[in-house]
Amino acid sequence: MATILVTGGAGYIGSHTCIALLAADYEVIVLDNLSNSSPEALQRVQKIAGKSLQFIEGDIRDSRVLDQIFAEYAIDAVIHFAGLKAVGESQQIPLTYFDHNISGSINLVQAMQRAGVFRLVFSSSATVYGDAHPSPLNENMPTAMPNNNYGYTKLVVEQMLEKLAASDERWSFALLRYFNPVGAHPTGHIGEDPQGIPNNLMPYITQVAVGKREKLSIFGNDYDTPDGTGVRDYIHVVDLANAHVCALKNRLQQQGCRAWNIGTGRGISVLEIKNSFEQINGVTIAFEFAPRRAGDIATCFADNARAIAELGWQPQYQLEDMLKHSWNWQKQNPQGYR
Ligand code: NAD
Ligand code: WQD
Repeated sequence: MATILVTGGAGYIGSHTCIALLAADYEVIVLDNLSNSSPEALQRVQKIAGKSLQFIEGDIRDSRVLDQIFAEYAIDAVIHFAGLKAVGESQQIPLTYFDHNISGSINLVQAMQRAGVFRLVFSSSATVYGDAHPSPLNENMPTAMPNNNYGYTKLVVEQMLEKLAASDERWSFALLRYFNPVGAHPTGHIGEDPQGIPNNLMPYITQVAVGKREKLSIFGNDYDTPDGTGVRDYIHVVDLANAHVCALKNRLQQQGCRAWNIGTGRGISVLEIKNSFEQINGVTIAFEFAPRRAGDIATCFADNARAIAELGWQPQYQLEDMLKHSWNWQKQNPQGYR
């Protein structure tokens, strides 16, 4: 079976993807600098999968480490999760984001070229559509400048990979545009473990539920949406992980650069998330309405028809599962991996 290098494999989406890869009999090599993750996640991945993987602690910006990995292992393809992802922080320290997300990706692709490895699945984001189009968003819509530096790094890397693929037909890139990943592994043993105050809705809700935060602030209740709160496309992280295995299989067969939306195609409001979380899990989430958060848009959800048609992928989990599994993880691990 093929051997896959997974950068950022100890992180939230990477760890779930490692389980999916091991279940599909791939050999897995993880490179992660643990700047936003714990080695415990990979211990648990191996326990859940009943199989082992190789872990190398290192940075994608370090060419020496990359060259060593490509020399030691016969890597067939790369899944590239490593990077920084906090939108607000990217406005404070843009150069750090350009360094990890853009220079890091260039460094990785250069090392791949030196090693003769030409297949890569890239973690992109729905943020590359900017706020130029009404939802559902489809891949034929032109990308637009995101309104934050994090999103900008995703757009730059996407465009760079497109140009690279156009210059040399050996390259094969999948650009997976994630919508809003939530949920956790059904066992509750791995999940999202943000450092400090969570930026994203779901970990904030679970931290209120577990008593770590006092109340949820709902950012804006005057949007042009059915209940006035923001609408997003929440996708279960295990469905997202499975999309990577499907994209990998596709890329092992085909050349070029292709983008796929990975979402459920269903828009859900912040209030619906809060209310359903309470109902399904039997807990109360204290909340207040707060002003809109800078940079947020009213509505964002996917047209996922291309991924379903071309990748043979189909989301399996419902909103209820996302909410149940997020809570199951948080309840079992009130301090995350610590
Ligand atoms: P995460 O922070 O949990 O995982 C990223 C991993 O990369 C972490 O384990 C971190 O330690 C590692 N890392 C960071 N910089 C590195 C470097 N220079 N060298 C080596 N390792 C490094 O984040 P995640 O939610 O799992 O996201 C994975 C990828 O998906 C990221 O590229 C992110 O931008 C993208 N993405 C995430 C979301 C989301 O909402 N979670 C949405 C769209 C896209
Ligand atoms: C969801 C909804 C908020 C927190 C971000 C990035 C995007 C991608 C996914 C990486 C919005 C509301 C949130 C809170 C709230 N990441 N909210 N109170 O903003 O859709 O997307 O994560 O690529 O690029 O921008 O996700 O979870 O932050 O917010 O009311 O405490 O919840 O306003 O409507 P978002 P989110």
